[in-house]
Amino acid sequence: MSTVRAAATTEHRTTVRSLAARKRRGERFAMLTAYDFAFARIFDAAGIDVLLVGDSLGNVVQGRDTTLPVTLDETLYHTRMVARGAARALVVADMPFGSYQVCADDAVRAAIRLMKEGDAHAVKLEGGTAVRETIRRIVAAGIPVMGHVGLTPQSVHAMGGFRVQGRGDADRRRVIADARAVQEAGAFSVVLEGMPAALAAEITATLTIPTIGIGAGVECDGQVLVMHDMLGLNDWTPSFVKQYADLGAAAHRAARAFAEEVADAKFPDTEHSYR
Ligand code: KIV
Repeated sequence: MSTVRAAATTEHRTTVRSLAARKRRGERFAMLTAYDFAFARIFDAAGIDVLLVGDSLGNVVQGRDTTLPVTLDETLYHTRMVARGAARALVVADMPFGSYQVCADDAVRAAIRLMKEGDAHAVKLEGGTAVRETIRRIVAAGIPVMGHVGLTPQSVHAMGGFRVQGRGDADRRRVIADARAVQEAGAFSVVLEGMPAALAAEITATLTIPTIGIGAGVECDGQVLVMHDMLGLNDWTPSFVKQYADLGAAAHRAARAFAEEVADAKFPDTEHSYR
């Protein structure tokens, strides 16, 4: 790639290096999930630094109970759309369940597809000490990896439900060891999900890579929310979510108004008809 082209593609783009620099400067950053071009463009223009094509798409887009059924091809489909809408945000694709657990070779192949066919800039995978070698192998292939420890939704059945992690002393030590393992393996950042704020603060102070919290208190270097939760597009939102808009209610009102105007033959009126 020529230097001119390299400058054009990375000048204003959030990168793994700029996120590391922000941690050093103590500047927080924001990540939102996105699953399509339209919302990726809105969030990108609004200054969201990182767009995550989360496997939460299984829940909020596909209407499933867990993230487990999401496939690599589905993730690729959504990642491509998000990448097209992201002019400056870093696009991270979540590695779906089954794409990295069997062996590191599979994991590297899946991560390469997400970068090559999905136009992602990085991948994310869940787990700590158990996936240390897998992270190493993906990083060795030149692919930036975001880790994810604490409440890891792909292990919902092993955890016995969506439960806050790291509450007892032994569990607290396990989550800390997981976060350290992710950093040692070469990840550029790590999501801390569903854990006491004090534990996330301790991990954030110990690690040199940025932490990104969800249900993990305010002391993380960045924060992430699932877009459907923060925009009011779900029936139910977890208690740690702040709803910043009620797009669900707005869409309901708009659809009702449309249906009523169609029934009353008020739409389309002359303004919205061709002469
Ligand atoms: O899939 C997802 O949306 C995630 C975030 C909750 C971090 O992993």
